Amino acid sequence: MPATRATAPGKSILFGEHAVVYGYPAIAVPITQVRAAAVVSPSPGKPSGAVQVQAPEIALDSPLNDLPLDDAIAKTIELTLAQLGIPTPPAFTLRISSTIPLAAGLGSGAAVSAAISRAVSAFLGHPLPDEAVNAIAFEVEKIHHGTPSGIDNTVVTYARPVYFIKGQPIQTFNVKTPFTIVIGDTGIKVSTAVTVGDVRQGWQADPEKFEPLFEGCGQIAEKARTLIETGQPKALGALMDENQTLLEHIGVSSPELETLIDAARKAGALGAKLSGGGRGGNMIALVPPGQAEIVAEALRAAGAANTITATIGADT
Ligand code: PMV
Repeated sequence: MPATRATAPGKSILFGEHAVVYGYPAIAVPITQVRAAAVVSPSPGKPSGAVQVQAPEIALDSPLNDLPLDDAIAKTIELTLAQLGIPTPPAFTLRISSTIPLAAGLGSGAAVSAAISRAVSAFLGHPLPDEAVNAIAFEVEKIHHGTPSGIDNTVVTYARPVYFIKGQPIQTFNVKTPFTIVIGDTGIKVSTAVTVGDVRQGWQADPEKFEPLFEGCGQIAEKARTLIETGQPKALGALMDENQTLLEHIGVSSPELETLIDAARKAGALGAKLSGGGRGGNMIALVPPGQAEIVAEALRAAGAANTITATIGADT
């Protein structure tokens, strides 16, 4: 059996995080500069069912059977084998690597799952279709997130801009005119399960406050899709600013995020907002053509641990 390799990109949520959990639309795009990769190779001489899992970046080198049941990698392999109806595969080694920063709102967990299920299923001679890969990555997301909307696994699996409404068929869409965002990482790692849980508590305590905020986020996502599809990306800046204000009211912003957002705006960004779960993690800024490095520099000067510049629509 020849070795197989598969990858999946990172992702960024442009509009609609948190509200998406309550059924409102959100927009996410693949970030193809960063990727997770999985390589599966045969382990000749080892007994059937012997699976070795290696992820040097997290110092993991372990037989599959020694991993805890709720381990995301183990769960992905188990779900992939179950989907294929192969309880005891020929012995193999799975090697995982990723350039997607961990726990930073860039979809690292979902991308690793998608890459693993693709590489393992291809190795076993039955490459799974995107729908099955997406379903497996969604199940695994539940370990990280508790009650995920499904947006992360969808965008990294299909590697296309996605207009996502929980529970509805997947809608990918085209970017008419490419545009550039700079992603700034606060360096603060916050569990999405915690922020999603806090928002749920707030909503339960005061639905009259939260429903209009969620609805506002959904309307912004809807407008943004039209602007992206009709080639008016500059106007997305104002929508980012509006979405940020709503996210502040929802209670998921933080002083560190706002420092970076202000720095980006002062350096010439057309708009900026937090992206993903919030309280830490990443913010994004829409930048005019040719201004990305100036904004990235301003973000680093304001304390960003890392920046990524991504042109959306240039490769889809
Ligand atoms: O923290 P991230 O980038 O994985 O984003 C989570 C997005 C939320 O809307 C907050 C949660 C979800 O499951 O959609």
